[in-house]
Amino acid sequence: MLLEKWGPSPFFEQHCRHAVAPARLAVVVLALLHAALPCPARAGEVEVLHFWASGGEAQAVAQLKATLRANGHTWKDFAIADGGGGLAVLMLDSRVRSGNPPTAAQIKGVAIQEWARKGKLSGLDDVAGAERWDALLPRLISDTMKYRGHYVAAPLNVHRVNWLWINADVLRRAGAKVPATWDEFFAAAEAIRRIGVTPVAYGGQSWLDLGTFESVAIGVGGVDFYKKAFLELDPAALASPAMEKTLETFKRLKSYTDQRNMGRDWVAATAMLNRGAAGMLIMGDWAKTEMLAAGKRPGVDILCAPTPGSRDVFSFDIDSIVLFDVSAEKKPAQRDLARAVMGRDFQQAFNLAKGSIPARLDVPLDRFDACARRARQDFQHSAKRGTLLPSLAHGMAQPSHTVAPMWDVVQQFWHQDRMTAREAMARLAGAAGQRPATAPK
Ligand code: BGC
Repeated sequence: MLLEKWGPSPFFEQHCRHAVAPARLAVVVLALLHAALPCPARAGEVEVLHFWASGGEAQAVAQLKATLRANGHTWKDFAIADGGGGLAVLMLDSRVRSGNPPTAAQIKGVAIQEWARKGKLSGLDDVAGAERWDALLPRLISDTMKYRGHYVAAPLNVHRVNWLWINADVLRRAGAKVPATWDEFFAAAEAIRRIGVTPVAYGGQSWLDLGTFESVAIGVGGVDFYKKAFLELDPAALASPAMEKTLETFKRLKSYTDQRNMGRDWVAATAMLNRGAAGMLIMGDWAKTEMLAAGKRPGVDILCAPTPGSRDVFSFDIDSIVLFDVSAEKKPAQRDLARAVMGRDFQQAFNLAKGSIPARLDVPLDRFDACARRARQDFQHSAKRGTLLPSLAHGMAQPSHTVAPMWDVVQQFWHQDRMTAREAMARLAGAAGQRPATAPK
């Protein structure tokens, strides 16, 4: 199971302390500042659970902290540094169960509905109505933020998952072109290998395996196949020739990666691309934060293109904040947080730092790079064509208890050279059909 992957104590010891320690320092500094300044009447503390811990992600969170601070509130960081957010979910669950939820948490996609169904979220219709969120957000995004027609989450951004990033210098030296199809991708990979560079930088964590796999599925099987297999969990699509070809193509990719990818996180994989130790990377646009930190210009030094075969498709991952039902004195600061998240200037600053595009359509992109501008154009184009696809790997398509067994199979298939595509396909269909022993409440 997804949550079992992150054993609480050793993992927490190793990964959380360093994230929480600077946060404590920040809280102390904020508390001192707070004590020195006259407090506005509604000042309060917001404790926010999130898993944005890499350098660039932390900068994006700093935008939110600054906005809150400008409103006179204090920010209490509850950062869990575990990349995909699995441990964060575990921690959150235990806080909510013990009746002590944080003020807010970074929760997204299908999980929003699950938390709302449990009756743990604070409704946001008052803020959303006053600030006209329905008019500011594309329908797809506002629908994702609602439970039974009522707002229960505030969107921060839209990430595109089906991106291929290419080191421009490596590509030039290899004499290859930006691939538009999987055949072209493997031709470019061969050319890069010939100049002595690892063709593909690969992050070897299970959620990253699944992210790559879903992008291959879109390019190999197409939009209808993706919808049938991953949204409808249609047994015929899960055991179809398109699925077999997807698995074969995914495995073929492995021969173009270095063999030391096991457990590598996305930050390290992006670093390989930045320094030219690898030529290409399949990753959502949060990778831009690490490109920028390394002084690389997305769209210039590191080129962006839709993953092969997915030119007219946009697979999305929307980050959002939910508010928990907290005591009355904490509510004003909590409402300000929701308001801040949807603020126009905030959405610009946050997304410039985060690598994503603003959820609000009226935020101008003149300060954004070419990849962000292309992302918005492709988002709008895909919305019209019906080719916006919720990402399976990022919790947009299925609940975690459905996805977890699927990503186990995908990960095993990647690592076990003897497992055939047919075998993996049968296991995947079985995994997708599994139901949790106890249905979520
Ligand atoms: C989140 C991003 C995050 C990325 C890497 C994605 O699932 O939506 O906000 O930057 O994972 O941790």
